[in-house]
Parts: sequence; C-alpha cells; structure tokens
Amino acid sequence: MAKKTLGVAMVGIGVGGTEMLPAFEQMEEIDLIAGADTNPLTRERFQARYEATAYSTLEELCEDPNVEAVWISTPNRFHAPMAIYALEHGKHVVVEKPMALSLEEAQAMCDAAKRTGNVLIAGHTRSFIPPFRKMYSIINSGQLGAVKSINFMAYTDWLLRPRVSEELDLNQGGGLVYRQGPHQIDTVRLLGGGMVKNVRGVVGQWMPERSIPGYYSAIFEFENGAFSTIVHNAHGYFMGAQMVPWGHDRQRYDEAERVLVRNGMMSGTRDEESDKQAIRIGGEREVEIFKREGQNREIGGEPWVPAEPGFVVVSCERGDITRSAYGVTIYDNNGHHTIDLKPPAGWAMNRRAELKELYEAVVNGAPVYHTAEWGMATLEATLAVIESAKTGKLIDLKHQIPVHSEYSNAKIFDEDPVDAGVRID
Ligand SMILES: NC(=O)c1ccc[n+]([C@@H]2O[C@H](COP(=O)([O-])OP(=O)(O)OC[C@H]3O[C@@H](n4cnc5c(N)ncnc54)[C@H](O)[C@@H]3O)[C@@H](O)[C@H]2O)c1
Repeated sequence: MAKKTLGVAMVGIGVGGTEMLPAFEQMEEIDLIAGADTNPLTRERFQARYEATAYSTLEELCEDPNVEAVWISTPNRFHAPMAIYALEHGKHVVVEKPMALSLEEAQAMCDAAKRTGNVLIAGHTRSFIPPFRKMYSIINSGQLGAVKSINFMAYTDWLLRPRVSEELDLNQGGGLVYRQGPHQIDTVRLLGGGMVKNVRGVVGQWMPERSIPGYYSAIFEFENGAFSTIVHNAHGYFMGAQMVPWGHDRQRYDEAERVLVRNGMMSGTRDEESDKQAIRIGGEREVEIFKREGQNREIGGEPWVPAEPGFVVVSCERGDITRSAYGVTIYDNNGHHTIDLKPPAGWAMNRRAELKELYEAVVNGAPVYHTAEWGMATLEATLAVIESAKTGKLIDLKHQIPVHSEYSNAKIFDEDPVDAGVRID
C-alpha cells in the first residue's frame, strides 16, 4: 500500500520559508500543496515552482480542505494568532521560532492545541539537527555519566543580513535574542534535560546602523545541577568558522561581501528590501544561499563550521562532546573518537526533522516531542535573558518541562545519516 502523504501548506514564504523548501521537496511523505503570502511576487514564484495553490491570506488557506497542516514562517508577531487560528480551523501546525512574543501568547497556543486536539510543534530548528540529536543520545545513554556543563559560543554575520522594518522593532520580536536565542536555548535545554532553574543574561546593542541588539550572553543553571553558558555576537567581524582548523568564514556573506554590506549600511545606501527578496523563493541568490549542493552546509556538502548556534562543548562526568566536521567528537577515558554523520548528497540535513516529527505525529500517532509546552519553556528562558539584562537580576523560571521520556526512540532518529563507523583518530 502506498504510504499516506500529508498535505502541508506554508504561510509566509520568506527567507526562513525558502530555507525549508529543500526539505519539503525531498520528503516523499510530505506534499507541499499550498502556500499563503501577502507578497504577490512570492505567490507567483511559489505557484510556478510547485503547481500549488497560492493564497494571499491564512484565512483563505484554511478554507482549503486538502491542507492538513500549516507551516508558519511569517514574521514573529503573527506566530501566535496564526497558529491558534489554524488549529481552530482543523489544521495541524509547525510554528517557527520564536513561537510567540510573550508567555501569555504561548499559553494561549498550548490551550488551543489541547482544546482542538490538533498537533502543534514548536519548530526550533537547530536543536533538531542530527549532531545535537547524537549528543543527546550519548548523554541519555549515560556512557559519560551525568551532564555537567554545556558551553556555546557563536560569532556570526546575522546582524548584517537584510531586514525588513518589523524585524528592527523589539516590540515585534526583532533583535538577536528573540530571533537567535531560541536556537541555542532550545539546544541547551535538550542537552541539559530541559529543566532550567534560573537565568542571568546580558544583551548588547552597539552597531549604530541597527536599532536592535546584536549581542547576548547568558548563564543557565539546571535543576540537575548542570550549568550552561551561551554567547552570540552577530556583528560579522570575527567569525565562528575561525575556531576550527578546517573553517572557512563564509556564512551568509564572505569577508569581502561583509565589508561591502557594512559600508552600504554606514553610508545609508543599502536597499535591504531588495537584498532580502533576492534570497526568498526565486530570488537571484536563493540557490547560492539555500540550495547549491557542495557549497551549502544546510544540505550537507562542506564540513560544518561554527555559525548559529555556534561552537559547543558538552562536559559530562567522564568526558566531553563537541561537534566535528561531519558529526560529533567524544573525548573520554580512552582518548577521543569521531562519529561521522555525513548526510547523503543533497540531503537537507538541517530541516527534515521538524517535518518528520509532524508527519509521524499526525499520520502514525507518534508523540509530539516539541510540544507547545516545550516551546513555551524555551520562550520563557529566552525572555528571561532579556529581563535579566534589563534588571541585572537572576530570573527564576516556572514553566520548564523535561525532555520527553520517549525522545530517544523518536522516529526522526531513524532518519539520521547512518554513522559512518566510529573512527579512532
Ligand atoms: N528556523 C530558522 O532557521 C529560520 C530562519 C529564518 C527565519 N526564520 C523565521 O521565519 C520568520 C520570518 O522571517 P524571515 O527572515 O523569513 O522574514 P521574511 O520577511 O523573509 O518572511 C516573511 C514572509 O511572510 C510574508 N508575510 C508577512 N505578513 C504576512 C501575512 N499576514 N500573511 C501571509 N504572509 C505574510 C512576507 O511577505 C514574507 O514573504 C521569523 O519568525 C523568523 O524567526 C527562521
């Protein structure tokens, strides 16, 4: 019998949406049957590429009975109202990070998922990727003893990437903490078991051309006694790639492009709207940024280098784990060894798992691991960084939940690239 496919629609086919498209295209069990976007050019390009219906609003899209689930990648302020609307109109939902702007909104999303019985997945992206799932499995197996510390350091060009006006407004979830904090924090929560006790954070904003923060660091204490430090500096001078011997410093831009972009911002001559449209679906730079096999780490060509969420060292009682060029390296009492997780050519390594979790939950009744409650706990920790930076205080958290007890058996792990053997270096 043919496998059932799930009819999914994307709302907000912007940069984040475009980054997801390779995974949609590859997964036979997912049918990208519709989309909704307010931008007519985007609708035209989407319809032409996928022969899918392109609506201009979520409301119209929700009238389409073939749409079973909705991928929400609109600007942050729409996440909560759109997720709730879709759930109430019989659709399952994956919502991009940050799941909402406030805990009240997140709570309303939890309530709507419960009330309707539809699936809601908080898609925090980076914590889903195979190397972090492998780290989680190693920690969970107990082979290195209890987890003690998780340290993340990211140096990226995020602040130089093109922004539309709503992204430059803190009240609409603009800035580095709202936008990038969830990547690191969701990962840290996964690796640390989920239960953060308290947070102390600082936030920095010093680029005159940007009205949003481009720096944060924070310390988290977990209930199990583990500690975590996260740092993200997004100004694009020193780049995380320089932290590994095989690094090459291109993230969104290479060094020469970063100089040009920065000069354009300082002289006020940059056209950010057209720079941004160039990397959305069908734009001149879409393939270069999101699809060029062998050139793009998102689809597994070149070795990984620290970008977002950065370079990580997890320390357990009897060993450390880091990311490696193609997987993870374990340092233990026998020395060190690397587990390669090199994906098959063209594999959209970083983005399949969210769709897989959606599919398994809706079609096969598997548990939802990244529930609304899990997402709310990540949002709480993210907001606590901002609050702590404002008040100078340690913030106690109240909405934390542990990693789902069955997570290590999740079907999404079956999809991970087969370990290419354990190599003793
Ligand atoms: N997970 C990731 O790695 C990742 C990467 C990039 C962006 N994102 C997330 O994606 C979201 C959008 O960011 P972006 O950089 O893609 O911005 P963007 O501006 O490129 O995309 C937003 C899209 O939504 C459309 N839109 C706006 N209002 C709409 C409405 N009311 N109805 C339908 N469509 C509407 C816009 O026309 C645009 O195409 C953010 O929440 C961001 O955090 C996630």
